[in-house]
Amino acid sequence: MPNPVPKPSPQTGLRALKAIIQNRSVVPALNVFHAETGDIFRLSALNFSAIMLAGPEAGRFILTDHREDFLWRLETDPLTDLLMHSVLVEDGQTHDDMRRQLSPALHKQMMAHYAAGMVKRTDQVIDTWGDGLRVDMLVEARKIALLILMDSLFDVDYTPELGRLWRSVIYLINFISPGLWMFWRGVPRPGYAKYRAQMDEYLYQIIDLKQHALPAEPDPDRLDMVSYLLCSGMPRERIRDQLMTMLIAGHDTSTAQLSWVLRLLGEHPDALARAQTEVDSVLGGQTPDTENTKGLVWLEQCLKETLRLYPPIHIGSRTAVRDLEFNGVGIPEGARVLYSIYLTHRHPAHWDAPDDFKPERFDDFKRYDPYLYLPFGAGRRNCIGASFAQAEALVVMARILQRVQLDASGAPSVHVHMGATLEPRPGVPMTVRRR
Ligand code: HEM
Repeated sequence: MPNPVPKPSPQTGLRALKAIIQNRSVVPALNVFHAETGDIFRLSALNFSAIMLAGPEAGRFILTDHREDFLWRLETDPLTDLLMHSVLVEDGQTHDDMRRQLSPALHKQMMAHYAAGMVKRTDQVIDTWGDGLRVDMLVEARKIALLILMDSLFDVDYTPELGRLWRSVIYLINFISPGLWMFWRGVPRPGYAKYRAQMDEYLYQIIDLKQHALPAEPDPDRLDMVSYLLCSGMPRERIRDQLMTMLIAGHDTSTAQLSWVLRLLGEHPDALARAQTEVDSVLGGQTPDTENTKGLVWLEQCLKETLRLYPPIHIGSRTAVRDLEFNGVGIPEGARVLYSIYLTHRHPAHWDAPDDFKPERFDDFKRYDPYLYLPFGAGRRNCIGASFAQAEALVVMARILQRVQLDASGAPSVHVHMGATLEPRPGVPMTVRRR
């Protein structure tokens, strides 16, 4: 007979509450539960209940060994409402078919082709920074990530939409973020219909434009993602679902990664200076691309360490489709199961000084167990955009360091905001000086 899922004691609950208040963030409460309860525990409040799992064993259990025993889709989740039938929220054969159709545009080999656009869009945003002025890198990173995503995958210039659709994008991200809806199903979400309609209208415009521009005999190797999906015969409504997914999942994550690495480098001026010196000596003034950035070993280590400390997608969420057992603990059919990338990345049994920023832990291309270090998930539902995100972060950071000097002195402290991704709030102010 398996044991019941351990519940944090009321004292642990109080300590967790204290951690939330002290840190102005829910995230440290997870550390308290984990430290005092172990790698599996129940999270419950009002009518929300889930089983949290952490550590490499748990990752392997959910993502690979028992992959077929967990479903992704949850009809009551706002994410399903927004993304409808996209690859992110489908399961089984439907998921696998969609993933196959989306993969060519995100294949590693495509990155060399996207790099020039990544530099161009980064330059476009850098050009707006006044010399010697302070800019908020959380906002700037979002601009860069949005422009790059739309340029690379959809072959669309998003510049006119940056201002026009800014509020819609932010609203939709808040809509899918953890919030009151988890505890109270009928919570009103005013504005959702309006902002979603604005984004839908824009996405359908892109689909129509691409449809009209399709050549009579298209060469699949030269098509952007939208044209490729059109050629595959996917219905317009399903294409809209994939585009909405790429737009949200493909830029909010990169925004988090870029803003956190800038924040961490700002806090560690030695690491920042070393990264800048490396960019100067390795690139020697060349425009960053996927080949020459391979030599940016330190910068890459900083990016890896950033994703360890602040994995933008810090949790994977599933529903158990049958009774299961993990380490002698029973997981009943129908249970909501969350696996925590954040807790796994800071697991004290596996990491030395887990809360410290130490890029050197990735020295000598050190490879960690794929279920211990998994910022992009693992198994067959790992991140389809992993190559894109890694190439983008390296190229964008190399370009920023090449063009400006950054100074974060006097910046206020940040807390870890648990939105759709983990974000440094209230922002990442930095003074930029042209080089
Ligand atoms: C630093 C950037 C990124 C991080 C840390 C990240 C992280 C992740 C993680 C952890 C998962 C698996 C979630 C789970 O197991 O439940 C995932 C899935 C996914 N990601 Fe990313 N992601 C990033 C960038 C991107 C980009 C750039 C795109 C698109 C261009 C993208 C699109 C997706 C999609 C569509 C899925 C679902 C894949 C599937 O279910 O087959 N992500 N991502």
